[in-house]
Amino acid sequence: MPAFDCHVFVCCNQRRADHPRGCCDPQGSRALLAALKEELAGQEKRPRVRINLAGCLDQCEYGPALVIYPQGIWYGRLRREDVPRIVQRTILRGEVIPELAIPPECLGSRGEICWSFRRQQES
Ligand code: FES
Repeated sequence: MPAFDCHVFVCCNQRRADHPRGCCDPQGSRALLAALKEELAGQEKRPRVRINLAGCLDQCEYGPALVIYPQGIWYGRLRREDVPRIVQRTILRGEVIPELAIPPECLGSRGEICWSFRRQQES
């Protein structure tokens, strides 16, 4: 039996403001990481989850970004208000939230936002 049901790696990387790829945590506040931990702590039935601080996950164009393993679910352009549904739907129920997911064909696009993610953001 694995020690954890999942690991959530939250990019908290900081770069200088004029970096061409941007970064997920320009203020270094780690706000998304803290919000996920807080939301999980408030759950009655808590799964075995680790919320880990991560450096750059190489999905900077879609940041703020996180990845959930072992499921391999990538989420991007996250906001604080997305946290409750990430916990309720993805961490507790195992559902992928399509509008937050970085499409597989977009992962690692390095420097460009791929068309399917852009279209998803516009809908
Ligand atoms: S800075 Fe967050 S994925 Fe690169």
